[in-house]
Amino acid sequence: MQGQTVQAIRAIRGMHDILPERTGLWQTLEDRARAVLEGYGYQEICTPLVEKTDLFKRSIGEVTDIVEKEMYSFADRNGDSLSLRPEGTASCVRAAIEHDLVSTPRRLWYRGPMFRHERPQKGRYRQFHQIGVEVFGLAGPDIDQEVVLLTRRLWNTLGLGDLRLEINSLGDGEERAAYRRALVFYLEGHLEDLGEDSRRLQTNPLRVLDTKRPDTQAVIAGAPCILDYLGAESQAHFDRFCAGLDAAGVGYRINPRLVRGLDYYNRTVFEWITDDLGAQGTVCAGGRYDTLVARLGGHPTPAVGFALGLERLASLLEAEPPSPDKCLDAYLIAVGDGPQAKALLVAETLRDAAPELRLICHCGGGSFKSQFKKADRSGARYALVLGEDESARGVVGVKPLRSGGEQSEVALDELGVFLATRIR
Ligand code: HAM
Repeated sequence: MQGQTVQAIRAIRGMHDILPERTGLWQTLEDRARAVLEGYGYQEICTPLVEKTDLFKRSIGEVTDIVEKEMYSFADRNGDSLSLRPEGTASCVRAAIEHDLVSTPRRLWYRGPMFRHERPQKGRYRQFHQIGVEVFGLAGPDIDQEVVLLTRRLWNTLGLGDLRLEINSLGDGEERAAYRRALVFYLEGHLEDLGEDSRRLQTNPLRVLDTKRPDTQAVIAGAPCILDYLGAESQAHFDRFCAGLDAAGVGYRINPRLVRGLDYYNRTVFEWITDDLGAQGTVCAGGRYDTLVARLGGHPTPAVGFALGLERLASLLEAEPPSPDKCLDAYLIAVGDGPQAKALLVAETLRDAAPELRLICHCGGGSFKSQFKKADRSGARYALVLGEDESARGVVGVKPLRSGGEQSEVALDELGVFLATRIR
């Protein structure tokens, strides 16, 4: 090996490290989301990162981009086909059926990494993180309204004022089938303008509405509108949903082209969109999926949910990060052999006395000056100074680093309580 340079291994394309400078922002984001979710009575559920591939095929749909092209699937050692989860709804429904969580209304939430082999670009990654919610057992538009109100509260908590809400109704099975027939009939009349989008005509024609091709978009401008195919019940559901948003002062735009890329939806669908992230502007998306629980083997159970993309939210917040909820309280400096030998034990005593304390005990020795510089750079509120003299007298020097106050001395055995009263 001598003389050879060793090639460093880099992360997989589209999969990113979240470095310590940014984990604070992520923690704030997650803490605020958790507080809002708990405020609406949601309970956290954790499911495995890997599931049987069939689960995703049967829920997301065989002819979707995710299942056709984007799943990380592999054969387990016993030959079973497994996949890294591309989203959380399927796993959540599987777990809810398996553990009988769907017989009474339930509000569940989850968070964690999801995996899709998409073409990476800003805001689109191969490993990304979602916080998602799924509500089981409630069929009315009131719960659709509540999940939107919950997301609005979260944006307000995070100081995100300019997200737009787009909504649509996809109707129920038969309504969508009738719409699909009308759409295919219309699109077949414009085949020459559809280019590669015509591939979707027989398999998943609603996805054509989502196209980025300008020629297809021009065709779609004259296509039939799904809202004209809603039956009386779906229409009443949608009207009451809209009226609920109006009553709560939530602004929205009805976008009849909003069809979503996963097949399980019916009736209400919605997306929260920002103009600040370029092409990948949807930060949160969801809707109803009233037939999925039964299709995966459970009792027929209405359901609604959404997921938000944490990378996208984090980059919106980067410009103006919310004030951190946490910072380091103290940095303990020890100068001289005797104090250095006992610094870790002093730190343990302080942690016993003040369990909430966030304390770094300097390791690695060095002069007072170099240790003090590190204390200052750490962002701690106090430098705690233990030199030979302080150690002999049973005291510690306490220097406020952020408020410009004077250094004082506190008896070692009172320091824990002293700090505990100042860090709240
Ligand atoms: P989705 O629209 O596929 O829905 O994803 C939800 C959100 O996850 C997106 O709006 C976006 O913010 C984020 N996201 C999706 N793909 C990526 C990616 N490749 N890179 C970065 N962020 C991404 C679902 O996943 C449904 N399970 C939502 C749901 C829950 N519907 C009902 N319940």
